[in-house]
Amino acid sequence: MSYCLEVVRQDLTQSRISTLPGERDLQLAPGEALIRVDRFGLTANNITYGVAGDIIGYWQFFPAEAEWGRIPVWGTGTVIDPGTSDLNPDAVYYGYFPMASYLTVKPEHVTERGFTDGASHRAQLPPVYNQYQLATPENGFAEGTLDHRMVFFPLFATGFVLDDYLDDNAFFGADAVIISSASSKTSFSLAFLLHHHRDCKVIGLTSRTNKAFVESMGIYDQVVTYDDIESLHSDTNIAFIDMAGNSSVTARVHHHFDRRCVCSSGVGITHWESRDGENPATLPGARHTMFFAPDQIQKRNKEWGPETYQHKMNDAWGQFLESVDQWVSISHYEGAEAMNQAYQEVLSGAAPNKGYVIVL
Ligand SMILES: NC(=O)c1ccc[n+]([C@@H]2O[C@H](COP(=O)([O-])OP(=O)(O)OC[C@H]3O[C@@H](n4cnc5c(N)ncnc54)[C@H](OP(=O)(O)O)[C@@H]3O)[C@@H](O)[C@H]2O)c1
Repeated sequence: MSYCLEVVRQDLTQSRISTLPGERDLQLAPGEALIRVDRFGLTANNITYGVAGDIIGYWQFFPAEAEWGRIPVWGTGTVIDPGTSDLNPDAVYYGYFPMASYLTVKPEHVTERGFTDGASHRAQLPPVYNQYQLATPENGFAEGTLDHRMVFFPLFATGFVLDDYLDDNAFFGADAVIISSASSKTSFSLAFLLHHHRDCKVIGLTSRTNKAFVESMGIYDQVVTYDDIESLHSDTNIAFIDMAGNSSVTARVHHHFDRRCVCSSGVGITHWESRDGENPATLPGARHTMFFAPDQIQKRNKEWGPETYQHKMNDAWGQFLESVDQWVSISHYEGAEAMNQAYQEVLSGAAPNKGYVIVL
């Protein structure tokens, strides 16, 4: 049976498994190809795609009917019917998929590295999400690291860009970096890079239940729960990297550090149910602005060239891979019901030492 996980766009707690037409019943249009989705990673980042679905257009990648939406995930898929496209049967690609048995794509610019989905409903969306990479060792997909790639890489890459952005701006004059949702993979990717390569204090903010985990990682100099923000010394300049998007936490950090909050960057919204509060634009200290990774990537591509940039990121990724298994173990969930269960677990806040890979 072919199936798909869908959620109510305005109420992410409601999810269902819906049946899709069988692969053999599909009629591919000229130029289209059919890819079977093999496996994908699931983290709070995917939940954020749903929370910000209307603002950023994430619902448009894989449209569904009526009030339902299909949340995108990072994963791999195998070409099961190349149709009249230039794809090879059985080739495996890494990219953006729905949580579904298959995806129909319209491959364009097919090379040894990958292709772009030229489907018309995706044309206005950010190009990075329309690119599919051929998952071969030559393209950097080393044997045995595919699960890590889908669970960690999109998050690590953001941590890498943030680390570079802070360094590029001389940390805005901050002596310490405070990272909220410190237990999240994006946050600890940044903390890992700061800890190993930069001369600044790294402070993690987290919930009571995740404090012991964050402390055990050994990459944060100090770990404080959300209840204890006011216990931090306020006589230091800080850069605030906000992964939680919790308006009360953001406001308390700004009020506590006041003009010593010299940078405030909104990156995530893991606390997706706690966003209604004080308007961040009116808070004391640096203006709270949304971080836009492509700006920094474009700047570095110009200054260093894309190859050097990729090289630096791959080096750092290699170091991260050597450490991450001591903190997070990956669990596999097989089939439709297990996929729904995993989705609900991640939505309500999963244990930070667990990585989810769904196998279809
Ligand atoms: N702007 C960008 O380009 C970009 C790129 C990548 C990721 N991000 C964002 O970074 C954030 C982190 O994503 P991730 O995939 O790294 O997360 P993750 O590893 O799945 O981390 C989950 C953490 O988030 C908090 N959390 C999760 N669900 C929660 C809930 N229902 N209620 C309260 N807290 C909850 C908990 O941290 P604490 O207890 O420590 O708070 C939890 O340990 C996401 O919002 C993601 O969209 C943004």
